[in-house]
Amino acid sequence: MVGMSTVLAAALSVGRSGHAQPTSEGRQQTSQPNSIEQAKQKGFEGVDFYYDVFGAPPGQDPQKSFEQVMKKDQAEKPEVMAKQRKLLEERYDLSCKQSPGVTMTKGKPQPVGPAVRLPAGMTWEQLAQMGPDDIRKKRAFPAGFDRLPHPKHAVGGQVFPQIQIKQFPRLERFDVDFDLPECLLPEFPPPIFLTIHPELGDVSQGEVLHADNFDRLFRGLVTPAQLDGLRMLVTQFAQEEFNATHDRKSAKPSLGVTCLDCHVNFHTTAQFHLNPDTRPQLERLRLDTPSLRGMFNQQIHGSKRSIRSVEDFTEFEQRTAYFNGDPIRAMKKGMNLIDRVLVAHMGQMQNMIDFPPAPHLDPMTGRLDRTKATPLEVRGEDVFFGKGRCAACHLPPSYTDHQMHDLHLERFGAAADGPIKTFALRGIKDSPPYFHDGRLPTLEDTVEFFNIVGGLKLDQEEKKALAAFMRAL
Ligand code: HEC
Ligand code: HEC
Repeated sequence: MVGMSTVLAAALSVGRSGHAQPTSEGRQQTSQPNSIEQAKQKGFEGVDFYYDVFGAPPGQDPQKSFEQVMKKDQAEKPEVMAKQRKLLEERYDLSCKQSPGVTMTKGKPQPVGPAVRLPAGMTWEQLAQMGPDDIRKKRAFPAGFDRLPHPKHAVGGQVFPQIQIKQFPRLERFDVDFDLPECLLPEFPPPIFLTIHPELGDVSQGEVLHADNFDRLFRGLVTPAQLDGLRMLVTQFAQEEFNATHDRKSAKPSLGVTCLDCHVNFHTTAQFHLNPDTRPQLERLRLDTPSLRGMFNQQIHGSKRSIRSVEDFTEFEQRTAYFNGDPIRAMKKGMNLIDRVLVAHMGQMQNMIDFPPAPHLDPMTGRLDRTKATPLEVRGEDVFFGKGRCAACHLPPSYTDHQMHDLHLERFGAAADGPIKTFALRGIKDSPPYFHDGRLPTLEDTVEFFNIVGGLKLDQEEKKALAAFMRAL
């Protein structure tokens, strides 16, 4: 409260110069209020203006207006989440099937599918026999293959899974919760593999990297420049929903989020937000946080922007993506122009993160070592590079072609997403749910998806083999 009058005076003088009228000396002097009460008396009645300066319309205490918004949002939250639950249940079988021995790198069971629900009376085989026109006309494209919305799409913003909020309560929103069940998410915390220390294996020691432990865990393993980059990656920066203004979605004022809040241990636990690139709001894509493993081997970044360096993406994230592509919001809530020297440190640290080990791959080719692989994996590799045509876009060693492709889902009556980055498939078993928005819960779903969208006509055994091959990557 102490600094309030100065802040207000500054804000008011900015606001006033925005109004064309007051030009005379006298008016300027008499309209130099130094408190909310005085401002009201002086007749600053424009509602927009009051929102800008006080965060509340005339006559309303800004703190009260925050409380009112929070109360309303909290009251509406159960309905918001129930609606999303219904949508998810219509799209997916959420029973989370598992299969013995089918695990992620540290042992969490992988979800096994397909979990996407078929249209009534249809089988995967029947659907795969139909062409795009037929599927579109009969409205037979499975709902789960279409865009997955944010539970509160009109508001959007970053949402963190419950398992993470338990450890970091600062990441809780009062208006919306995470929507997918935990069994469909990557392991938490994920392991960390350093390109500079393959001999050490997972260097996370089972902890989530954050501001209090990064120095203890990484000092001596990385260079001082990389350690400084890591410091920045675990430093909170203001963001649209998590900030210190009245206009936020966390109950307590927040210093913001850190890069590794979403890219937990340089991987992901399926945190999501909306892409900053598309308008109108309801057309914006839900984005499932991608892993930062293997960034060193990828030439384009982001599902839409095709940004050409990790450094540029690092700047873009907190300046643009955090504020939905609206620089005015960024300036209001805490714009942070990271110095390019620090950006280089952050980029360098991100580029030291490796994919998880894949013991069945031949280091020379990035393809299966046929003396180690199972017969099913070998069969799957044949389908991947042959009949399945997956290698038209997913090429070893990272299993991406560094291109964006438009799968033209509108052919099937689904929403048109336009070109999207070919995500890398190395280590893919660790990263459910799949696709830019996380619409496909399991690898089996991705196989059924491409079987239909690519018109592949794979048989049961080929589909099974393809999933087994991807689990070996
Ligand atoms: C919502 C939580 C969230 C936070 C916080 C976050 N990211 Fe991201 N990050 C994402 C999402 C979602 C994408 C995918 C963007 C897209 O597809 O367009 C992404 C993409 C990236 C990519 C490109 C990955 C690729 O596929 O090529 C990099 C690099 C990256 N983020 C770095 C950072 C850095 C550095 C920070 C901190 C300044 C940060 N991120 C903070 C969610 C987050
Ligand atoms: C025309 C290029 C192309 C072909 C061919 C292709 N893919 Fe992809 N793949 C993509 C693109 C683009 C994406 C990202 C789609 C999205 O996020 O909307 C993707 C995403 C994926 C993902 C999810 C990756 C992630 O991180 O979420 C998997 C798994 C996958 N593809 C497997 C396959 C398999 C298996 C085949 C062959 C049956 C195949 N792809 C054929 C371009 C292709």
